[in-house]
Amino acid sequence: MIPTIARITGTGRGLPARIFTNDDFASIGVETSDEWIVERTGIRERRIAAESETTCWMAAAASRSAMSKAGVTSGEIDVIILSTATPDRLLPATAVDLQAELGATRAAAFDVSAACSGWLYGLTIAEGMIASGAIDTALVVGAEKMSAIIDWTDRSTCVLFGDGAGAVIVQRNKAGEKAGILSTFMRSDGCLADLLYRPHGGAAHPMTKEIVENRSHLVRMAGREVFKHAVREMSEAADRALDSAKLRGADIDLLVPHQANKRIIEATAKHAGIPMSKVYVNVDRFGNTSSASIPIALDEVIEKKIVGPGSTVMMVAFGAGFTWASAIIRL
Ligand code: COA
Repeated sequence: MIPTIARITGTGRGLPARIFTNDDFASIGVETSDEWIVERTGIRERRIAAESETTCWMAAAASRSAMSKAGVTSGEIDVIILSTATPDRLLPATAVDLQAELGATRAAAFDVSAACSGWLYGLTIAEGMIASGAIDTALVVGAEKMSAIIDWTDRSTCVLFGDGAGAVIVQRNKAGEKAGILSTFMRSDGCLADLLYRPHGGAAHPMTKEIVENRSHLVRMAGREVFKHAVREMSEAADRALDSAKLRGADIDLLVPHQANKRIIEATAKHAGIPMSKVYVNVDRFGNTSSASIPIALDEVIEKKIVGPGSTVMMVAFGAGFTWASAIIRL
């Protein structure tokens, strides 16, 4: 058995109250249908945040729940790693707003920008910081207000995304502990950046009236190309995580994949040799919440007791960049 350094000791989620169904798109003049969206993506509804439900607000709700389940107080957190593609402000990091909100007075805090794979990147960083001896306790959050950066007039993207946050507490293992992070994997390919991106509004092309008028500060995506890469890279990430943990698909009790699209999830599971009965899917209720999707799903499967102490869980993600990543944990 591979000795582990760190384990997840608590999970939580923070979701906006408003449910926006596929049929609701008609009310904002988007020409689409429930049938088209369900058939292509498996999405039936998503949460959409109100103005007051900021990325930090959702992150704080998820964090408080994870801290309470782990029995960790804000003063015990050594680092806050917050993955987001939708920071509340461009400076400072949303992680420091979360640090202030939680009163985590001993914590370092920074954002990770790796799109949908960001929470797995954060988990890997947390494990590494614990391994180095720098910290004992990390709060790793994925929080996204995707509704703020999607083009609500572009039916090929606006139907896909939703808002929400998920969080976990990661702590140093005691000697002989069986639970823990068994393997992690991260990769990127920036040559593919323009397939899923926000063209303008950053430092290279600061915001102007023209940028806002032609909506080039919002998400643009070449859906078909992204789909092909997502299947290929998620499959590679699953292979690498299994190889490093010296496991096979049959050893996995539950696959908790990034929830972008049911067809991408099915293809990834098939490649890894995992039947759909061992795959958790909630994309029908939340859409693609980017880096929040895996920690939200992880919190649900633990709460519903689909997995419990001793279960082996594989998590796989893919996102803009492109970035892709995976991890296998024993609960
Ligand atoms: N409702 C109805 N019709 C729509 C539509 C919508 N919401 N969005 C696009 N269409 C139309 C297109 O205009 C096109 O019509 P046309 O043939 O008359 O031109 C048709 O549907 C097919 O469009 P296409 O983009 O080729 O569809 P697709 O089968 O590739 O499905 C996606 C589109 C976006 C669902 C699919 O490509 C996908 O899931 N890609 C991956 C996206 C993703 O997960 N990104 C995040 C990764 S982390």
